[in-house]
Amino acid sequence: MNAIDTSILDTLTRIVGPSGILGGADMTPYLVDWRNLYSDGRALAVVRPGSTQELSDCVKACVAAGVPMVPQGGNTSMVAGATPDASGRAVVISTQRMNRIREIDTLDMTMVAEAGVILKTAQDVAREAGALFPLSLGAEGSATIGGVLSTNAGGNTTVRYGNARELMLGLEAVMPDGTIWNGLRRLRKDNTGYALRHLLVGAEGTLGFITAAALRLFPLPREEAVALCALRDEDAALSLFRRFRDRDESAVRAFEYMSAGSMHLVLDNVPGATLPLAERAGHYVLVDLASSRPQAGLRELLEEVLAEAMEEGEVLDAALAESGAQRAAIWRLREEHPEGQKLAGASVKSDVSVPVSKVPEMIRRSSEALRKLIPGSRPVPFGHIGDGNIHMNLAQPPDMDAAAFLARSHDIMDTVNEVVRDYGGSFSAEHGIGRIKTDMMEDWRGGAELAAMQAIKAALDPKGLFNPGKVLP
Ligand code: FAD
Ligand code: MLT
Ligand code: ZN
Repeated sequence: MNAIDTSILDTLTRIVGPSGILGGADMTPYLVDWRNLYSDGRALAVVRPGSTQELSDCVKACVAAGVPMVPQGGNTSMVAGATPDASGRAVVISTQRMNRIREIDTLDMTMVAEAGVILKTAQDVAREAGALFPLSLGAEGSATIGGVLSTNAGGNTTVRYGNARELMLGLEAVMPDGTIWNGLRRLRKDNTGYALRHLLVGAEGTLGFITAAALRLFPLPREEAVALCALRDEDAALSLFRRFRDRDESAVRAFEYMSAGSMHLVLDNVPGATLPLAERAGHYVLVDLASSRPQAGLRELLEEVLAEAMEEGEVLDAALAESGAQRAAIWRLREEHPEGQKLAGASVKSDVSVPVSKVPEMIRRSSEALRKLIPGSRPVPFGHIGDGNIHMNLAQPPDMDAAAFLARSHDIMDTVNEVVRDYGGSFSAEHGIGRIKTDMMEDWRGGAELAAMQAIKAALDPKGLFNPGKVLP
C-alpha cells in the first residue's frame, strides 16, 4: 500500500468511524459477484457510511485523491455491476448502514426509503401501514432500494406496475463531485427541465450515488388467485395471457413462463422443490391475479379462463392454490429458477426482450441456434413473458468442463442476440450492462445514443471515478 492509499484510508476511517470500514478477509463477500463469474476483484477497502453526509464526505475525499468508487447495495447484480476489478485501486462504497425508512404516507401513497433498505423490508413496512410496494423479484431478500433503482429492475410485477423507474417519484443522491442533491419530491407531476432523477435510475452507479428515494405505493390487494399450469407449447402461454388480459387486464399481477428445461433444473436440484401437477410437462406458466376491489371474483375468473384454455388444448393441467401457503409454494418454484441453475453448474444468461407477440418464435429459434452452437447444451428459457422479457439462459452440457463452457459466453450471448435483433428486441432487458455486456454497447447503442451517454458521463464524472469499467465501453 502506498502513501496515498494509507492517507485516503485514514481519511475515510475518520469519516465513517472504524466500524464503518472493512479490510482484509472481511471484504471477501463484497468482492465476488452473485454468479461467481469474477473472483479476481480487489479493493482498498469496503466503506460503509451511515448517512448521506458521511457518504458525501467519502466521495469528496475519494475525488480529491483520485480513488475510484464502486457503489454496492445487496451485491445481487446478474452482470457483476457492483464488484470491483482486479486493480485493487477502488473502494467499494456499501449502503448497508443507510437503511432507514424515513417516512410513509398512506394518503399520498408514498414512502421515503434510504438506499440500503432491503426490498423485502420496504414491502413489509408498506404492508404493515396498509399499502403495497409492488416491486418483486427473486433477490428481494437481499437487493436494496438503491440497487433496484440503479438497475431499473423489473421482476415479476412489471406487467402490472412497471419497472422500478415507474415506482420512483423523487431521489436524493450524492453527485460524482460529492455534492448532495435533494430531489426527494413526492409529486405526481413535476416537469422542471431535464429529469435528473430518471438519469440516475438505470445508470448502474456510473453517474452518482442514490442515497434515498421517494417511492409510489398502491392499495393492498383484497383478493388473490394463483395457479401453476402445464401447457402445450410456447404459443399456448401467449394465448392464455391474452385470454386473461381480454377478460380483466387489471387483474393480472404476474404472468411467468417456465420451460421444461428451467423448471426441471429447479425440481432436480433445489431441496424441497415439488411440482403440484400430476406429471412433468414441456412448458409451464404461473398465473397470478390480484385485485383491491371487494368481491372481484378472481377465483371464478381463473377457473373459467383455464377451463376455456383446456378445452382448446392449450392448458394440459393446472394446480390452483387453495391457501396462502400453496400460493407461496407455487411462487417458490418460480423464484428458485436462478438458484436451480446455479446448483446445476455453469450457465450463461441472455436477459433479452422482444415484442410480446414474438416471444414464442424467439424462444424456439434461439433454442435451436444454441443447441447447434454447443451440442449437448441445455437451453433453459423462462421469465416475464407478459412483458416480453425472457431469460434465454443456457446451462452447461453435463459432460463439458465449466470453464470451457463459460469461455464461449460471448458466442452464446451473440447467438441469442442475433435472433433478438431480428425482432427489434433488446440484448439487456432488466439486469443492466454491468461489467459483462460493455462490449456490446458499441454495436447495439453506437452512434448518437452512445455519444450522448459518453458526453453525459464526461460532464458529470469527468475523472471517470464512479464505477469504472461498467456500462460504457
Ligand atoms: P447491487 O448488485 O449491489 O448493484 C447493482 C448495480 O447498482 C451496480 O452497478 C451498483 O454499482 C449499483 N448500485 C447499487 N446501489 C447503488 C446506489 N445506492 N447508488 C448508485 N448505484 C448503486 N433483476 C431484475 O430486474 N428482475 C428480476 O427478476 C431479478 N431477479 C433476480 C433474482 C436473483 C436470485 C438475483 C440474484 C438477482 C436478480 N435480479 C433481477 C438482478 C437485479 O439487478 C438485482 O437483484 C437488483 O436490482 C440489484 O440490487 P442490489 O441492491 O443487489 O444491487
Ligand atoms: C429471474 O427473473 O429470476 C432473474 O432475473 C433471471 C435469471 O436468473 O436469469
Ligand atoms: Zn427476471
